Amino acid sequence: MSPSNFSNFLLVMALLVLHKRVTAQDGTIGYHGYERDALLALRKGFNNTFLDGNWTGIMCYMNDTPYWYGVQCLNGRVTGVTLESMKLTGGIKVDALVNLTQLITFSFKNNSISGNMMDFSYNRNLRNIDLSGNSFDGKISSSLVNLNSLEALQLQDNKLTGPIPGLNQPTLKTFNVSYNHLSGAIPETRALQSFGYSSYLGNENLCGPPTPTLCNTRNDVSESNGENSGDKSSNSSRFAAILVAVDVIVLVVILFLFIIYYKKYKNLKKEMKLKNLLPKDEEHDSRIAERTMVKKVPEGDQGKLVFIEGNHGVTFELDDLLRASAEGLGKGNFGNCYKAMLEGGQVVVVKRLRDLKPLNREEFMRQVRAIADQKHQNLLPPLAFYYSKDEKLFLYKFASHGNVFNRLHGDRDTRDRVPFRWSSRLAVARGVARALRHLHLNTRSQTTAPHGNLKSSNVLLDNENDEILVTDYGLTSLIALPIAAQRMVSYKSPEYQSHKRISKKSDIWSYGCLLLELVTGRIPSHSAPQGMNGVDLCGWVHRAVREEWTAEIFDTEIAVQRGANHGLLRLMQIAMRCCDKSPEKRPDISRVVAEVEEIKIGGDSEDEEYDYSSLERSLTDESLSASRSIVSGDDLR
Ligand SMILES: *[C@@H]1O[C@H](CO)[C@@H](O)[C@H](O)[C@H]1NC(C)=O
Ligand SMILES: *[C@@H]1O[C@H](CO)[C@@H](O)[C@H](O)[C@H]1NC(C)=O
Ligand SMILES: *[C@@H]1O[C@H](CO)[C@@H](O)[C@H](O)[C@H]1NC(C)=O
Ligand SMILES: *[C@@H]1O[C@H](CO)[C@@H](O)[C@H](O)[C@H]1NC(C)=O
Ligand SMILES: *[C@@H]1O[C@H](CO)[C@@H](O)[C@H](O)[C@H]1NC(C)=O
Repeated sequence: MSPSNFSNFLLVMALLVLHKRVTAQDGTIGYHGYERDALLALRKGFNNTFLDGNWTGIMCYMNDTPYWYGVQCLNGRVTGVTLESMKLTGGIKVDALVNLTQLITFSFKNNSISGNMMDFSYNRNLRNIDLSGNSFDGKISSSLVNLNSLEALQLQDNKLTGPIPGLNQPTLKTFNVSYNHLSGAIPETRALQSFGYSSYLGNENLCGPPTPTLCNTRNDVSESNGENSGDKSSNSSRFAAILVAVDVIVLVVILFLFIIYYKKYKNLKKEMKLKNLLPKDEEHDSRIAERTMVKKVPEGDQGKLVFIEGNHGVTFELDDLLRASAEGLGKGNFGNCYKAMLEGGQVVVVKRLRDLKPLNREEFMRQVRAIADQKHQNLLPPLAFYYSKDEKLFLYKFASHGNVFNRLHGDRDTRDRVPFRWSSRLAVARGVARALRHLHLNTRSQTTAPHGNLKSSNVLLDNENDEILVTDYGLTSLIALPIAAQRMVSYKSPEYQSHKRISKKSDIWSYGCLLLELVTGRIPSHSAPQGMNGVDLCGWVHRAVREEWTAEIFDTEIAVQRGANHGLLRLMQIAMRCCDKSPEKRPDISRVVAEVEEIKIGGDSEDEEYDYSSLERSLTDESLSASRSIVSGDDLR
């Protein structure tokens, strides 16, 4: 195993550990993501070409017909998986279903799946299980006993062994365990005894009614309890002891190999460090280090963290990251985020990218460099990245005060809510506008949105001074188009909907929507996280103005703030122009920055006797009429 392979291995292990700790602490995490991950894990176990191609992209959206073959959904949750007669091979992990808690139907009839049965303890709604015609072995899962809605259980034609668990659900109407290698007495529960012999055929060691074979009592006890005295059971316990011994030996060998590889890996890494030392120092002397550029990485050394220079000496190795304790921050559109606390007290955010274009290392690095080259006090560039065939990670600085989405919408109507003041919201509007101006002025291409994914959850708040950091920019070049079209905010703009084109003006549209989110405190539908409903904000605000219930537009949390009204109105006017349906009519970013900068935090004397009729007058002028028929982000699925 080469060092890079080995570090891949470690990384995968670490990510598994990290993944286990993801909690739903952040309101934006839906079950959806875990269910999707669970299905992807199933897919991986089968190695089936059709599923590999079909189970990609969006899985199910609310109550639409599911996009994935054989998957049934209700309200965005997976309720059924039916993959019959597909020549599936491989296995299903025992814990594969723990996160599919809404499952009602589970059928893998007539495939060639092997291994143990899965654990159904978390699938309390299951009604229909069909694993017939496969090669499942081991015991029938005892978790089936607790499925109170179970109506059909079909396990015939497998290689299952051991006793039949004491199922006794009155709901059970269909049951078949024929042609396995089951043994022992059939439990004398009302449910199991209600089925005839034809449900139990072809298991030569089953006995008791309804089979015609009588049970030898001693045998029966030992078989159904799986242990105890008697010559047969002492035989089987000896066998069990041998199994345990073999397990222990295998474990010891694995541990031993692990230690050897780890030592080897460390040595190799030391060598590598030595080799890297010289060129690094030279760079410092000639002061090239000032420039933002991605360090050259020796060919073949694909398993290392690559730091992007100019990050104030923050460095650590992959190992440090692997040792760090971690906590899930949530599911992003392009991968999950973890907060990793390194031993030295440093905190970083690890973003695991998925659904990327198939880029080779060089292309990937070129794109990362382009992203990192965008430097501005309101932009949050990646600190480092990791590239290997199977994993691509971005590491970011941790922003201590979370993102604007959570700040704006979190803890609403609870006592924990800390009001998000007008001055802070204006600071967000300014910071984001400046960041966007920087991106726009430094991107020549007219046919792309330089940010591409601007929304409140991508605007971070750092430290007390309301420092605004915009993140997740420039990924358009990394993400495959069909995926980008599903998930990136720019692709939900009206022009992409109608002309399949995005541009700088698509960012302006996103910015307008963000401003409306700030002033109304409502969630826009095109950037609402999975499981949350938003409103088509541009359309909604326009309608509000037209139908003259304007007073209800503003977030009550700030509308009551003295001195905020004038600024709010200005910000809303800018927003309405930014989300004009036709891109050409939207202002360009320099104009937007200038106008947002002009807005004062508050306190002009005229504000004191502010009344909403002037707001209506100023909003219903002709400059806004074009936004009348803004396309809703909801139209895109
Ligand atoms: C199930 O979801 C939880 C989060 O709710 C996650 O921590 C865990 O790793 C998932 N388990 C499996 C087997 O996918
Ligand atoms: C998956 O199947 C392909 C052929 O269909 C085979 O080449 C590949 O090795 C298999 N991968 C795994 C992990 O079993
Ligand atoms: C998966 O298969 C279903 C049914 O054949 C089809 O409707 C769907 O479009 C496919 N999805 C993808 C991503 O190919
Ligand atoms: C089982 O699946 C195979 C294809 O894998 C198909 O040819 C056969 O007809 C199926 N049998 C039944 C009984 O559905
Ligand atoms: C159970 O399955 C076997 C084998 O597929 C079949 O012969 C038998 O008729 C089935 N019994 C019932 C009650 O469906």
